[in-house]
Amino acid sequence: MKTSELRQKYLDFFASKSHAILPSASLIPENDPTCLFTTAGMHPLVPYLLGEKHPSGARLANCQKCVRTGDIEEVGDAIHLTFFEMLGNWSLGDYWKEEALSWSFEFLTKELGFPIEKLAVSVFEGEEGGAPYDAEAYEIWKKLGISEKRIAKLSRKNNWWGPAGQTGPCGPDSEMFYWTGETPAPEDFQATCEDPLWVEVWNDVFMQYNKDEAGKYIPLAQTNVDTGMGLDRVAAILQGKSNVFETDAFAPIIAKIRELATVSEIRSERIIADHLRAATFIIGDSKGITPSNVDAGYVVRRLIRRAIREARKLGFDFRETFTTQIAEVIISIFGEHYPELVQNSGKVLLALEKEENQFKKTLENGLKYLKENVDAYQELFGDIAEDKIPFKGGFAFYMYETFGFPPELTLEELKNDNRVSGKLNEKEFWDHFNKRLGEHQDASRTAAAGRFAGGLADNSAETTALHTAAHILLAALRKVLGNHVEQRGSNITAERLRFDFSHPDKLTDAQKAEVEKIVNDAIQAKLPVVMEEMDLEKAREAGAMGIFESKYGEKVKVYTIGDPANPISREICGGPHVSNTSELGKFQLKKEESSSSGVRRIKAILIKE
Ligand code: ALA
Repeated sequence: MKTSELRQKYLDFFASKSHAILPSASLIPENDPTCLFTTAGMHPLVPYLLGEKHPSGARLANCQKCVRTGDIEEVGDAIHLTFFEMLGNWSLGDYWKEEALSWSFEFLTKELGFPIEKLAVSVFEGEEGGAPYDAEAYEIWKKLGISEKRIAKLSRKNNWWGPAGQTGPCGPDSEMFYWTGETPAPEDFQATCEDPLWVEVWNDVFMQYNKDEAGKYIPLAQTNVDTGMGLDRVAAILQGKSNVFETDAFAPIIAKIRELATVSEIRSERIIADHLRAATFIIGDSKGITPSNVDAGYVVRRLIRRAIREARKLGFDFRETFTTQIAEVIISIFGEHYPELVQNSGKVLLALEKEENQFKKTLENGLKYLKENVDAYQELFGDIAEDKIPFKGGFAFYMYETFGFPPELTLEELKNDNRVSGKLNEKEFWDHFNKRLGEHQDASRTAAAGRFAGGLADNSAETTALHTAAHILLAALRKVLGNHVEQRGSNITAERLRFDFSHPDKLTDAQKAEVEKIVNDAIQAKLPVVMEEMDLEKAREAGAMGIFESKYGEKVKVYTIGDPANPISREICGGPHVSNTSELGKFQLKKEESSSSGVRRIKAILIKE
């Protein structure tokens, strides 16, 4: 079955079950400053999962374009991709586990013809003091004919999805696996579920709880179903391929790359195919983003440059532009289902050509500089063999930082330069380079955290105070309006605070007065503001609100306002903040208005007393 047939079959199947079929939303999320890209089918539907009415009804399905860059280093193996399409069906307070699982089962076994002998499933095993074991899902699978040995009961790590932040809708999920081994599938799935030959094909999430600030799971009034199936993975299974790059949706891209290459290297071919596919979709989106040095634009730049580096390894002829040739193949494969790619093809090809030429110049300049300066650096920093502060990785880092010159190319050039090659120690080279890069990333991560969390324009006393006020304001809004309130953006200058948050209705005067009072009470209580650096996981456990995306890296800053055992606010944030709320003055709410659909905007000031 072709990939496009699978996509259509899924949508037709759910249309036959009374689902409205939505087009894919943009890859660039709306009203969500915390994410650069849409990462799951449910992502654009969050307001509706929280109870807002969807104009198309309570049963929805689509094929959503998604980008996840967290696993970019893994791309090149059998299954990892940065861009992928997620098939999904949703119930907004409509059907529940019985229908969701029965339809998943029907689609897999009847529509796709997956033999039941090759299927296994998992359900949530429950936990002490938390959400219970999902007996309902277990019984449904049994009734559908899955043998009990093939129904694994797994923990939260495997069978729980959400909330996206610290609080919000979430619930147990039930996942479906297909045995891709040559031998018959093992009978006992509980014992073999870690075997990579069991490939997860579908995840049905039962959003039946709202996790509150105290970490309690409160049953939701509106229970939702959120499902996700990876199109490329399932297509690979249906086409009898051991990896996603051999499906009909990828094979012509790989063939084009092989035509342009003089060296064959599977990993490099896959990286080029994946990265240029992602770049084509991002630039060709209805809200397309072109390469730049910030945010999503930087991700596109990185994807294209990584592809060019791999192309160099494959011996591409650098005198001709090749990213555009590969993008043309990509557009011809996907243009029918995603017409925006065809409409925006001119923009895509132009942006790729420009970026490719620019990066090739970078490589050229870097190489020239490197050749001319190897001697000078050696003199400056001492002999490599003697391990005085050698240039080694330090030089490579300089090249990387100044020219964007890839370190492996520096290493390659140094190896080819017989003046230094004999003295080169590769391990030391990488140790030193990575150490320098780590220091650099720490610095930029902190800067990025500040930008995402608050859009702080400067570090003056006024903006810092307003920044702390923004944290208390968010806590106050959640207290007064409910836990559905999430920060959607903020902009702070020395004069005022502008704060966007999710909430469907205009605030009443009483609500505004109450929010103001809570903030001013917190100021008068002279609460300490304490920053701690910790691992992301730790921050999550400590109940910190904020962005739990991998882009934050491992270590995050957490600001706690008030008693650490029962704080008024705890947020992941780059800072800076005041050290005590008494420094804020008097908080005054100046304006409350609509910002966009489902998002309200508050303007507030602090008056020095
Ligand atoms: N939202 C769920 C996932 O991404 C279906 O796996």
